[in-house]
Amino acid sequence: MKTKNKIFTILLTSCVAFSTAQTSKFTFDLDGSPTNIKIQPTMYGIFFEDINFAADGGIYAELIKNRSFEFDEPLMGWKQQNTKTLSPNLDSGFLTIYSDHSKTNKNYARITVYNDKNYILENEGFWGIGLHQGAKYDFSFDLENVSGNISAVNASLVDENGTVISTVPILIKGKGWQKYTAVFSPSRMVEKAKLQITFTGKGVVNMDMISLFPQDTWKGRKGGLRKDLVQKLYDLQPGFLRFPGGCIVEGRTLAERYQWKKTLGNVADREYLINKWSSGFAHRLTPDYYQSFGLGFYEYFQLSEDLGAEPLPILSCGMACQFNTAELVHLEELNPYVQDALDLIEFANGNESTKWGKIRAEMGHPKPFNMKYIGVGNEQWGEDYIERYKIFEKAIHAKYPDIKIISGSGPSPDGEFFEYGWKELKKLNAQIVDEHYYNSPEWFTKNAGRYDAYDRSGPKVFAGEYAAQSVGVVKPDNKNNWQTALSEAAFMTGLERNADVVTMTSYAPLFAHADGWQWTPDLIWFNNLQSYATPNYYVQKLFSNNKGTDLIRISENGNAVKGQNQLFASAVEDSKNNEVIIKIVNTDSQEKLIEINPKNIKIGSKLTKTTLTASQLSAENNFQTENIKPLEENSLIKKGKFSVQIPSNSLVVLKVK
Ligand code: AHR
Repeated sequence: MKTKNKIFTILLTSCVAFSTAQTSKFTFDLDGSPTNIKIQPTMYGIFFEDINFAADGGIYAELIKNRSFEFDEPLMGWKQQNTKTLSPNLDSGFLTIYSDHSKTNKNYARITVYNDKNYILENEGFWGIGLHQGAKYDFSFDLENVSGNISAVNASLVDENGTVISTVPILIKGKGWQKYTAVFSPSRMVEKAKLQITFTGKGVVNMDMISLFPQDTWKGRKGGLRKDLVQKLYDLQPGFLRFPGGCIVEGRTLAERYQWKKTLGNVADREYLINKWSSGFAHRLTPDYYQSFGLGFYEYFQLSEDLGAEPLPILSCGMACQFNTAELVHLEELNPYVQDALDLIEFANGNESTKWGKIRAEMGHPKPFNMKYIGVGNEQWGEDYIERYKIFEKAIHAKYPDIKIISGSGPSPDGEFFEYGWKELKKLNAQIVDEHYYNSPEWFTKNAGRYDAYDRSGPKVFAGEYAAQSVGVVKPDNKNNWQTALSEAAFMTGLERNADVVTMTSYAPLFAHADGWQWTPDLIWFNNLQSYATPNYYVQKLFSNNKGTDLIRISENGNAVKGQNQLFASAVEDSKNNEVIIKIVNTDSQEKLIEINPKNIKIGSKLTKTTLTASQLSAENNFQTENIKPLEENSLIKKGKFSVQIPSNSLVVLKVK
């Protein structure tokens, strides 16, 4: 046994040990003759949006909520208490907010301490602060000593009962604004700790940027990203990273759209913005959901590079979310938006002598990011979109003819707006059109043939947002259960079979904080300490890790396998590893015996079979156990026809040299 999950079995003739009387048998022909259809390296990617506290409170590892008092209610996340009564009795001290309107982050706290024995300032974190035993946490703040004799700031991390877990005294030196730092080493693990600050002495101080980060971030970067979450993305081997969304690109209003230029430079100077999803759904209001932009565009490009994924930024096209205010920029006033797109390409790809290339270099990346794709608008529809898209397309391609532009076909996979969008985009020779579908598991299995009849000479398809919904779109009780994942797997064989049309795909949304989510289902769930991969994640991983390089045909009686007898299949060749990879999905409650009949192709004798299945369609993974995860077996087969057992309700990936 090599690993816990790898079972090596050597069978001399076939990997099928048993087949029961009821098992139906089918023969699939595997045709090795070239289709001349390449599987694009971008075929399986990642959709990232700051929804469900995916960025702030999630992958961006800052543990203090509202660290610089910039929320519209500047004391959100903060509490002042009397140490003795633990009530908000402010006799012993109080905090006021001062603002310097010449700055992007204008607010700071002025703290007046009358009785240092009795005054505490507390931050609640994001549903608490997750602390790992033995890990180290960088604590820092900016402080100006205004008057009096405050000689120290005493910072403590306390557990849910107020018991101190780790404490650091920090001596105050001099008068002017200074940065102070200390390191916490928690003596035990706590999921929902809080930060408490007390003072030694009486007087007045100003404080700002009160920050706490784990030292053990992804690649050990200071003020970086949460390691376990990035690792899960890395393990997907994604072909691209789409960012920053989603509707967040558009904003509820134009003023609240995502503006990438405001997300660069020193993190302390990045202007906060209310998150669109704070009030997205009445059933999950999160008024304390803001964007600090600590994860900004530079960091998104850096993350793409770390993941080996093509960066795919999506920009506002001058239309606020059409589900919200639907505000529009007049065509004559669109220029700054178009300029943002041109400047972004210069930021990513320009050399250091260009204005924006220089800014990228100064932030630490002199080499260009080599960006190849840009999205114009997220999920827009109607004439207003087409008019604006045309202006962007003309300007981008005039200056950067090699950049590939992603356009959108709206929020639905069919209907009037979808048809209209596609018709117009085809006329305009659009390069890649983004389609979104959130639908029932039945829709996904029924639509495995969706792209079979797509025009081969038209734009390519980016299946940019999709996920099967166990209850219904935006229903709060949707689950990431095996039924949804299995239906996505069935559908994905159809994406792969049509790799000449579909060149990019991504599940959405990506992340959800178990305490802070607004939208379900999501690919990866996390809390302050842990994360788990859903069955849907493992489906994505199996396809992405086995995407191969060239499509080959797999058929039954001359027909593509797309739902007959509840079986779905696709096959690829991986020319780098000299392997054939077959994906078979069985959505039936009966197991199947599949005879694979290789034609025009010689196959080796070592077969790797990876099975993803669950005891029940309603089964889910959770923080305690990931029961649904791939199981790998190796066996020897005859060099020729071979048979494989495909369990009921399963995805099976077969790999053979
Ligand atoms: O993925 C959640 C949302 O669904 C995206 O922000 C939006 O593009 C779509 O409507």
